[in-house]
Amino acid sequence: MNTSEQEPTISELFDLSGKVALVTGASGCLGRAFATALVEAGATVVIGSRTKERAESAAAQLTDSKGGTHYGVAIDYLDEGSIQSGFEEATRAAGRVDILINNGHERDAHDLTNIEAQDFNRVLANSTGYFLLARHLRDHVVERKAAGNVVMIGSMYGVVGSYPDAYEGVSPASPVSYQALKGGIVQMTRHLAVYWAKDGVRVNCLSPGPFPPDNAPAEMVKRLITKSPMGRMGKPSELKGSLVFLASDASSYVTGQNLLVDGGWTAW
Ligand SMILES: NC(=O)c1ccc[n+]([C@@H]2O[C@H](COP(=O)([O-])OP(=O)(O)OC[C@H]3O[C@@H](n4cnc5c(N)ncnc54)[C@H](OP(=O)(O)O)[C@@H]3O)[C@@H](O)[C@H]2O)c1
Repeated sequence: MNTSEQEPTISELFDLSGKVALVTGASGCLGRAFATALVEAGATVVIGSRTKERAESAAAQLTDSKGGTHYGVAIDYLDEGSIQSGFEEATRAAGRVDILINNGHERDAHDLTNIEAQDFNRVLANSTGYFLLARHLRDHVVERKAAGNVVMIGSMYGVVGSYPDAYEGVSPASPVSYQALKGGIVQMTRHLAVYWAKDGVRVNCLSPGPFPPDNAPAEMVKRLITKSPMGRMGKPSELKGSLVFLASDASSYVTGQNLLVDGGWTAW
């Protein structure tokens, strides 16, 4: 028997047909690209946003060539009750959840010169929300005796400090609380991956480099470009391949890793 005939093909490995993915923050810039990528790979998508209306509106904007139905639920990472009710609603609406993309987060513009303790703690609470939602996914798939997959969205700023001269006088774009949040998410990924591997739940982190939105200060973007080995900023669509890789069987032997998609930012 030729065993190679039984090996999955590349298109089978990346195929998410029949899977349900919950993506938070998909009303935002990168989350929209993540949700689009998952639909294009064949998944049914449930979008989480702080308001159900925004989530449903983002889900309605997804273009699905196969005519699939996608859903929206309210999930606020800073509200434990909303995390539970949002996850339950997602499983009710779509029948189940197999993949979780922990992407949305509440921003805070204070930097290290002026942040107060309560604002710092509020930013860190986003990672509590990431954990609680991931644990709902883990418990749900274990109960179903199914496999689960969690992708945390980190940042290059969970791995390296920022260049002060890129922001000085222009923008508090890289607050100290954000650095603490994202570094913690990268490490939490490793911890959960180890504990949940035997439950059939993989946990990885996808860390974007610089993907400034269209309304980012032009001077800041100009300075950031000088810090990039590739000499340019990323486009949201350049995260789609890595996201589907981590969310699919294409990465079936990968867990606890942090995949940086940063144009080489952290390589020098
Ligand atoms: N853009 C970049 O350059 C970059 C670089 C590195 C990492 N990242 C990471 O990528 C992710 C997405 O970034 P982005 O640039 O797409 O941000 P964004 O456009 O600001 O979107 C963030 C989303 O988070 C949701 N959100 C806000 N507070 C929330 C809360 N308390 N609970 C649940 N959801 C909440 C918002 O949705 P609603 O208002 O609908 O609730 C919003 O759509 C973030 O984790 C960010 O740290 C981005």
